[in-house]
Amino acid sequence: MNSKTVYIVFGVSGSGKTTVGKALAKTLDIPFYDADDFHTEANVKKMSDGIPLNDNDRGPWLNILATHIRDWHQAEGAVLACSALKQKYRNVLQSIDDHYVKWIFLETTYEVILDRIEARQGHFFKKELLASQFETIEKPKRGISIDASYSIKNIMAQIKLKLNIQKSQFGLIGLGVMGKNLAKNILSKKISLSVYNRQIEGKEVDVAKHFVNEQSSNVNVLGFDDLSSFVSSIAQPRTIMIMVNSGKPIDMVIEALLPLLSKEDCLIDGGNSYYKKTSEREKKLLKHGIYFLGTGISGGEEGALKGPSIMPGGGKKAYDRAGKFLEAIAAKDKKNNPCCAYIGPEGSGHYVKMVHNGIEYGEMQLLAETYHLLRFYCNKTPEQISEIFESWRSNDKDGFLLEITADILRKKEGEQFLIDIILDKAGQKGTGGWSTADALELGASVSTISEAVMTRNLSGMKSQRVIASDAYQLVQTRITENEVDFIISLEKAFYAASIINHTIGFDLLTQASQEYDWNLQMSEIARVWTNGCIIRSDLMERISSLLVNANTTSLLLFPEIITIMKANIVALKNITSTAITNGYSLPVISAALNYFLTYTSAQCSANMIQAQRDYFGAHTYQRVDKTLTEYFHTNWKN
Ligand code: 6PG
Repeated sequence: MNSKTVYIVFGVSGSGKTTVGKALAKTLDIPFYDADDFHTEANVKKMSDGIPLNDNDRGPWLNILATHIRDWHQAEGAVLACSALKQKYRNVLQSIDDHYVKWIFLETTYEVILDRIEARQGHFFKKELLASQFETIEKPKRGISIDASYSIKNIMAQIKLKLNIQKSQFGLIGLGVMGKNLAKNILSKKISLSVYNRQIEGKEVDVAKHFVNEQSSNVNVLGFDDLSSFVSSIAQPRTIMIMVNSGKPIDMVIEALLPLLSKEDCLIDGGNSYYKKTSEREKKLLKHGIYFLGTGISGGEEGALKGPSIMPGGGKKAYDRAGKFLEAIAAKDKKNNPCCAYIGPEGSGHYVKMVHNGIEYGEMQLLAETYHLLRFYCNKTPEQISEIFESWRSNDKDGFLLEITADILRKKEGEQFLIDIILDKAGQKGTGGWSTADALELGASVSTISEAVMTRNLSGMKSQRVIASDAYQLVQTRITENEVDFIISLEKAFYAASIINHTIGFDLLTQASQEYDWNLQMSEIARVWTNGCIIRSDLMERISSLLVNANTTSLLLFPEIITIMKANIVALKNITSTAITNGYSLPVISAALNYFLTYTSAQCSANMIQAQRDYFGAHTYQRVDKTLTEYFHTNWKN
């Protein structure tokens, strides 16, 4: 910063020249001058008599100012606020080297100024005078233009940025619900931020500008709807998070960014992208020297604002650069460490988030089935079920999903419980299905996850279900046994099924880590999931401490888990059989039980499958009485 520079802040009356000029002078610690204080006596008299000045009157005044500008430049520099509406006035003022005069044009509209002036109560103002200023003003050819419709703090931020006094530390693209809240979170950590949102007439209009104006007390934020200015507002090497829908939108943003980026800039995709696409994007970007972190972010709207759980995957170098920002905005675990850790290479961050969502699907369906039994088999009101769930929460089984389910059940609309009027047709965006599809590729068994996906699919066949229900008229009987005992069993069954569902998720991660050579650290993943994310729970805390220094990740084989399962498995069996006998479907609870029964069977039914395969397809089989390297085929018809 050259202290001998003279900054001339100019624009129409009401554009904020004096306020901005003073603030800039204060920032730069140089004197401030108001051009109006340098008028000749004759001019002052004319103006006080209400006679407008003409160019002849202005000549001597501008010359006086030009002399002062030279003097200020010889001294310590200065900030001058001056209307300087016409280029010829500015030419007079520009009497020293271009390099030493910086022109700052406060650009705005007639409507904005009018609103501003009218808002100043009791202030008399001639609208015609303002209109004539807008007619007179000639846009400058040199210097910087600042959008003066923003708050003073933001205007100052723009000036600092454009004069190269300040660049943002972080960029964020996409101000949807998650993007907006992440941006607020970033700002709350005192990280200076540039935000960009596309401009779509009638749909997404001035989104970035409105966001910036809402943060009026925050000088650390700059808003853009022009991608190029957004990119150049960020300090190099740049770190930019993209919060747009997965699929095509993310590719479109990357395409548009590529020509604007420089080597070693780092992009973070914070959406729920498919991990294979993430690996492809990383490869492509690395060819251009751009780092890429495919980053799972969990916690919904509130998590984004208050601290989500963050799962970044990609190059280690990329994490070394961007990790500090992600760790700053993440939730904190019990030991106050960030719920964010480098996950592994390629698309592993998005993979881990995908499996998080798979477990989430399973847990949601477990709770839905539990609620359904209490509502219809036990004939409980939603409020009563909410109380039951609350008691489970304080019983070492707390978790975000249980908490929100208890909340949901209390919600009323007028006299009615809202849950009773919500259509029983579940949507999905894909992550549960992707977990299932990837498990199929890996040969992993994820029955609770896949069953949760299939159950959502089946729920979508609402009209057919209504017809079938009418056609079959199956009876769902009500409880006849001891209700208290049933509810105690249900709590145990829920817990056991939940442990199985988590086991399935972690096993999928273990298989993926081996297959894709990612070296995933299960204990770190569990720790990252202890807070901020949707599946945070007491159980996750337990899993996280179990996995530290463990040499197996198979949860069902930990002695502590074996004890818990032994205490709860009878309940899981009883609940499953009771529910099914009485006509209630229990897809994920029963899938969990079936998984467990198969997993704990030294002898299962697959010998028959092998025999059948060999019968019709000569697929061969191994024998228990021979070595496992030998394969046999039988001519079954003889
Ligand atoms: C999270 C959520 C979040 C999103 C789910 C919803 O971790 O914050 O999982 O990512 O709400 O993707 O998924 P469905 O729409 O498929 O249920």
